[in-house]
Amino acid sequence: MGTACLLLMLAVLSGIFSETSLCLNWDPVPRKTILFNNLKDIKSFSKIGVFNYTTLTLDEENKRLYVGAREAIFALNMTDVSQNSKLIVWEAPPEKKAECIQKGKNNQSECFNYIRFLQRYNETHMYTCGTYAFQPKCSYISLENFTLEDLVLEDGKGKCPYDPAKGHTGLIVDKELYSATFNNFLGTEPVILRNLGQHRVMKTEYLPSWLNEPDFVASTFVEGNWGDDMIYFFFSERAVELDCDNEQVVARVARVCKGDVGGARTLQKKWTSFLKARLLCSIPHQHVHFNKVQAVFALGSGQETIFFGIFQARWGDVDVSAVCRYNLADITKVFNGPFKEFRESAQKWGRYTGQIPTPRPGSVSTL
Ligand SMILES: *[C@@H]1O[C@H](CO)[C@@H](O)[C@H](O)[C@H]1NC(C)=O
Ligand SMILES: *[C@@H]1O[C@H](CO)[C@@H](O)[C@H](O)[C@H]1NC(C)=O
Ligand SMILES: *[C@@H]1O[C@H](CO)[C@@H](O)[C@H](O)[C@H]1NC(C)=O
Ligand SMILES: *[C@@H]1O[C@H](CO)[C@@H](O)[C@H](O)[C@H]1NC(C)=O
Repeated sequence: MGTACLLLMLAVLSGIFSETSLCLNWDPVPRKTILFNNLKDIKSFSKIGVFNYTTLTLDEENKRLYVGAREAIFALNMTDVSQNSKLIVWEAPPEKKAECIQKGKNNQSECFNYIRFLQRYNETHMYTCGTYAFQPKCSYISLENFTLEDLVLEDGKGKCPYDPAKGHTGLIVDKELYSATFNNFLGTEPVILRNLGQHRVMKTEYLPSWLNEPDFVASTFVEGNWGDDMIYFFFSERAVELDCDNEQVVARVARVCKGDVGGARTLQKKWTSFLKARLLCSIPHQHVHFNKVQAVFALGSGQETIFFGIFQARWGDVDVSAVCRYNLADITKVFNGPFKEFRESAQKWGRYTGQIPTPRPGSVSTL
């Protein structure tokens, strides 16, 4: 009994809409307005023939902005991005592109190397991954001369999606890569896993109760007080546990413990600390539920961390957006609270009412 994967909890967290502002206002006044005329000093950067600038990494220490695009990685001057950019061209080779086309992928949009991961690895190097014409690859970038160590490309499976259109997020903590991605060509194996370091590879199971057609958007490292450092992941997915509307898309927060070494027997190399909860962002009494999370920003650190999420919903036939705010303490409370289990007899999910087993499902097992 009690494997971590059976846990699903409902989070009731605070949105930005307070009880006093029940009257809907889709036309709020921005806090800050900048007139177009005042934008003339704006610095911009672009390069002809390069598309899909999707990966941004700011290195404040060295005042650089690293940008990953389609088959290109740039190092820009943080204070003035229009100055002295450096470029690494990292293309998928023609034979890989040919294989990609042969497998039925689009030669205009899919069979390229889209840079999807770009982060600092150690004092001297960054780590980067690209879709590499549907055969993901990773490598190190030497910061000193901004060159790719491409003589030995590493396998990018589980570190970067195959499909450039798929949502993906990841981060490096202590030279280990935590990623939420798709582990196969077909995009049918969503996974949250740990890679790269000296620890064992750890992952989620390919079961809808763990992850069900997720669209990953963000991840954050949060330092704990007692060695309980956590990685949080944000995504939308199809819910399996709701009674009313089967497979409705909901927004999620999930976490794994950094020191998790997995369980015994069938849970070897599987996270025992994996928990997920629904992120609610809605307008009280209006039945507008923002179920699609688009982006998340973490402010502050440690137990004081606050997450701001941008959410999207359909309201009638218009797309509407909202920002909701969540304190880490509230998320932690939900993770320590009641949870659901799958009831074989009724073939559905319901609140677990038995005695809480020890260790509690989702507890951290570390070495
Ligand atoms: C890349 O950019 C092109 C042109 O803006 C766009 O049509 C295409 O959908 C983008 N591809 C991905 C995978 O984002
Ligand atoms: C970055 O831009 C600033 C502002 O223009 C300039 O003073 C500085 O020298 C630049 N740094 C590099 C390394 O080019
Ligand atoms: C891509 O495929 C289309 C249609 O199959 C073909 O007409 C075109 O020449 C191809 N483009 C490249 C760059 O291979
Ligand atoms: C950083 O990592 C790279 C790649 O493993 C390695 O070659 C380099 O020596 C490391 N740098 C330091 C300062 O440890």
